[in-house]
Amino acid sequence: MTIKPIRKAVFPVAGLGTRFLPATKAMPKEMLTVVDKPLIQYAVEEALEAGIEQIIFVTGRGKGALEDHFDISFELETTMRARGKSLSVIENIRQQPGSPVYVRQQEPLGLGHAVWCAREIVGDEPFAVLLPDELMVGTPNFLAQMVAAYNEVGGNVIGALEVAPEDTDKYGIISPGARNGALTEVAALVEKPAKGSAPSNLMIPGRYILQPEVMQILDAKETGAGGEIQLTDAMAKLIGKQPFHGFTFNGERFDCGDKTGFIMANLALALDRADIGPAVRAFAKARVG
Ligand code: UTP
Repeated sequence: MTIKPIRKAVFPVAGLGTRFLPATKAMPKEMLTVVDKPLIQYAVEEALEAGIEQIIFVTGRGKGALEDHFDISFELETTMRARGKSLSVIENIRQQPGSPVYVRQQEPLGLGHAVWCAREIVGDEPFAVLLPDELMVGTPNFLAQMVAAYNEVGGNVIGALEVAPEDTDKYGIISPGARNGALTEVAALVEKPAKGSAPSNLMIPGRYILQPEVMQILDAKETGAGGEIQLTDAMAKLIGKQPFHGFTFNGERFDCGDKTGFIMANLALALDRADIGPAVRAFAKARVG
């Protein structure tokens, strides 16, 4: 089996972000900031550090701020330059001409459908999927750890993280096979299993390395849990045909699509910062006791 390198990454950013209203009424959820960087930038940096060469955004209406974030900001840069201010904080964000690639998901029909919208750009090669509302903190980063594991076993590699048993109905869940270090064979997958019916407490976080055949399965546009076209259901159909592993990340996951996770991410990353950490720590101690 030849293991093709992972060069492309798909970022589905066409969701409505209803859990974060009113913040996300006119602003994309992926532009919410953790300390001083929007979520999308953390995810793009993670992908680039992991060796990704082509960034593909699946966007929808009202997501223009995402495109602007990775472009030149002419007025801002000209004014800052004229005032002698350093541009270092924004210089690296701008991508190469022609990148990122943007495709549209006209209607939010589900994560599987969003990924399928990138099929022409992905073509016939394996690819990564990153959900930017999940902020992953670790060294090496989550996708880099997954790419290293993929380079050993090939096929499909998805995240596999333990959650409390009472929370399994909120996630895609892995039915695990043999375990070898951080890798677990995937025997089956189920999206949002009914309470008490989950095959394990291993959830699928928002990081995936997938073979291109998943696009042909998604062509059928079958709907699953919540009436949405689910990526989990399409991935499940690859099990047994291709190697399929779960990877347990050595690091921390913050679900920033959820208010609690978002606040926790801000607190955790602020406490770690040399510039603002001491002040935030002193405030938090005084407030919480
Ligand atoms: P979520 O389940 O968080 O949905 O999607 P959402 O619509 O963004 O947010 P809520 O639940 O209404 O608050 C997970 C990821 O999949 C993308 C989202 O943008 C997010 O990155 N997504 C989801 C799409 O791009 N299209 C879809 O049809 C659904």
